[in-house]
Amino acid sequence: MNFHVMTLFPEMIDPVLNTSIIGRAVKSGLINIDTVNIRDYAFNKHSKVDDYTYGGGAGMLMQAEPVYLCYRSVVDGIRPDAGHAGKDGSTRIRCIYLTPQGRVFDQETAGELSKEEDLILLCGHYEGIDERVLEEIVTDNISIGDYVLTGGEIPAMVLIDAVSRLVPGVLNNDLSPEYESFYDGLLEYPQYSRPEIWHDRPVPAVLLSGHHENIEKWRREQAIIRTMERRPDLWDKYKGKS
Ligand code: ADE
Repeated sequence: MNFHVMTLFPEMIDPVLNTSIIGRAVKSGLINIDTVNIRDYAFNKHSKVDDYTYGGGAGMLMQAEPVYLCYRSVVDGIRPDAGHAGKDGSTRIRCIYLTPQGRVFDQETAGELSKEEDLILLCGHYEGIDERVLEEIVTDNISIGDYVLTGGEIPAMVLIDAVSRLVPGVLNNDLSPEYESFYDGLLEYPQYSRPEIWHDRPVPAVLLSGHHENIEKWRREQAIIRTMERRPDLWDKYKGKS
């Protein structure tokens, strides 16, 4: 799977995503993360990419043209025949704008996105991006939560991490996504490792019993208790589905 990140700060992205599990997946070729500097498409004397907002208001806005040229170059690099803005939507590569005004990212969206071959991620900075280019190129607006960050790079990294680990082969154990938080709408049950007693706290006896059915039952109960206590919103959703 290929991620193409359009950003003014590629140096933020590269080191983070070349580390640990995602770094290993990049090295083994399961995923590819390509950062593209929007400033390289600012064809003016000072490589300027921002300007004042019409109508007034604080801060600067990223201008449409460098973002658009960057996008065109990314799409041409993926598949020259693929849909650009304005072309037939069926061949269009998804272009995600990370913005607090998007739909809130969750595990279900991560799963859906993990099925794509290519994803283009657009990171905004300053006060945002000229609306006209967003209208032309963006297929999905995604937020990572109801708070405002200084730019879209960290949200892009969050999305890449969550999506990549669902790509077959990225985790050593392909079974594990099924057992963790959110797989079926519940939080994950508590887990324990050695020693059996730590700071006077024993590992729950059922986990040492070797009785797989009881262990499964206990884990499910714990997942339910945890979800009810910590995320009543998720619990309500879960009850609604089952
Ligand atoms: N850019 C700034 N804040 C953001 C957020 N919460 N989610 C996605 N992109 C953002």
